[in-house]
Amino acid sequence: MNDTAEIRAPVNVLLVDDQPGKLLSYEVMLSELGENLVKASSAQEALAFLLKSDVAVILVDVCMPDLDGFELAKMIREHPRFQKTAIIFISAIHLSESDYLRGYEAGAVDYISVPVVPELLRAKVRVFAELYRKTRDLERLNVELERRVAERTAELAEANTELERRVEERTAEREQALAQVHEMQKLDSLGQLTGGLAHDFNNLLMAILGNLEMMSRRIGEEDPSRRLIDGASRAAERGAALTKRLLAFARRQELRPEPVDVQRLIEDMSDLLRRTLGPTIELVASFPDDLALVHVDPNQLELAILNLSINARDAMPQGGKLAISARRETIGPNNQRELAAGEFVRITVNDSGLGMDEATLKRAAEPFFTTKGLGKGTGLGLSSVYGMAKQSGGAIGIASRVGVGTTVELWLPVAAEAERRIVAGVAAAATSECAKTRACSILLVDDDPMVAETTVGMLEVLGHRVKVASSGGRALEMLVADASVDLVITDYAMPGMTGKELARRIRETRPNLPVVLASGYAELAAQDDSGLPRLDKPYALDKLASVIGAMV
Ligand SMILES: Nc1ncnc2c1ncn2[C@@H]1O[C@H](COP(=O)(O)OP(=O)(O)OP(=O)(O)O)[C@@H](O)[C@H]1O
Ligand SMILES: [Mg+2]
Repeated sequence: MNDTAEIRAPVNVLLVDDQPGKLLSYEVMLSELGENLVKASSAQEALAFLLKSDVAVILVDVCMPDLDGFELAKMIREHPRFQKTAIIFISAIHLSESDYLRGYEAGAVDYISVPVVPELLRAKVRVFAELYRKTRDLERLNVELERRVAERTAELAEANTELERRVEERTAEREQALAQVHEMQKLDSLGQLTGGLAHDFNNLLMAILGNLEMMSRRIGEEDPSRRLIDGASRAAERGAALTKRLLAFARRQELRPEPVDVQRLIEDMSDLLRRTLGPTIELVASFPDDLALVHVDPNQLELAILNLSINARDAMPQGGKLAISARRETIGPNNQRELAAGEFVRITVNDSGLGMDEATLKRAAEPFFTTKGLGKGTGLGLSSVYGMAKQSGGAIGIASRVGVGTTVELWLPVAAEAERRIVAGVAAAATSECAKTRACSILLVDDDPMVAETTVGMLEVLGHRVKVASSGGRALEMLVADASVDLVITDYAMPGMTGKELARRIRETRPNLPVVLASGYAELAAQDDSGLPRLDKPYALDKLASVIGAMV
């Protein structure tokens, strides 16, 4: 709207003539154009007006007494503002060709001769007034265009900066994710290596411990060899504890997850924690009122909390504060922690200790990585917590700053509602376990002759008759031939047929024959739905006795 109003706004038309009568007649002729007509009776007056205002068209008499029209036109043209202003000469006398040329050189754009024809004058002034208006419009539009271009350019530059910032951010995120994946893969392959090794060691220790136990039963209390046997047993037990941590890291320990009240578990172990931390470290535990139960092996969780607390203690030689807290979190898909989407409880263990530098932090969860000097740390603490969390469907996160402290987060899945009832039933059944064992006929299935031999020894010490099968297939054959077997104890991980598969096959023909799964290994823990009683390797005599007692 505004633009149209501006386009039609009258422009200044300057009429210059020394005769007032002529000025008046031009005014009358041009009045119907609706422009703003300004009269000047001398060159001075004309120049004075020009200096103050913009003019679209100048009408000049060629012959004026004080200044000739050509001279005035020349002066006007010299002014930078009027170099393009339309000048129309009115001439009463006949002009020669050279007069015309002089006029054009002075800056004239047109001529009108006297007597002036009103239509002609109007037509010429209208054309130049219109041209002036169009030129101004174009200039205005141009300024507007330039403004918009500048605005757009600024917007684009801003968008570009934002884009660059995001690309940088994304690249950094990606690099970090890749680094994390790399770390995970490294830990995974380390886990596979150590897992296999630990499994073999577990079998060796099983044989050593079993044999030592049987030797110790054969000799008298006062026998001088007893001290040696006890020493060997203690060493083998330490080896077994180490193997357990390795298996934990490799996510191959046997987990018995159940709904666990984290607050109660930590409160129950607070005495132990206070003793471990010593008098210079303050223990602060805080939990929300209605914290959900988590699905985890309570013993392993306890061990993890203890591991983290010991690490914190070691990082606070001058004392400090250890804060343990927990809260429920909902995790969406594609999260950075590689957690499955769902509900979790995040347990946070925070210390005000020395913290870790970047290099230490990066390697902290690696097995055997320790900064604690020879014989002091095994470097398996954090790795076993890491493995336990992973195997439980959770994760750990470690953040640390030198001089500020360390925070370890342990993410564990929230237990399903339905699970709580089942566990209550199992607990009730477990209390009726009977340790009294009558002599039985036992079929032992194990592909490792050393383990088999040791277990046979132990079972015989307990007064049972034992037959050994080296594979599932062999065991099935033996069961067909011998109906007297009261109980089958089978290894889980065997080539050909697993212990679980064997148990299923046995149930087809002899549904009432009890089967015990022995394993040092949790390859089955996650997917084991067999409900079979389990025996963790390495097992001692009393454990063996109580499992058998409960079965027959
Ligand atoms: N809370 C902590 N503050 C500072 N550094 C820590 C903390 N926890 C772990 N670390 C660092 O990570 C390393 C590895 O920890 P990890 O628990 O795996 O093994 P360790 O404590 O050295 O040995 P172990 O647990 O077998 O006694 C530690 O040696 C230490 O350098
Ligand atoms: Mg440790």
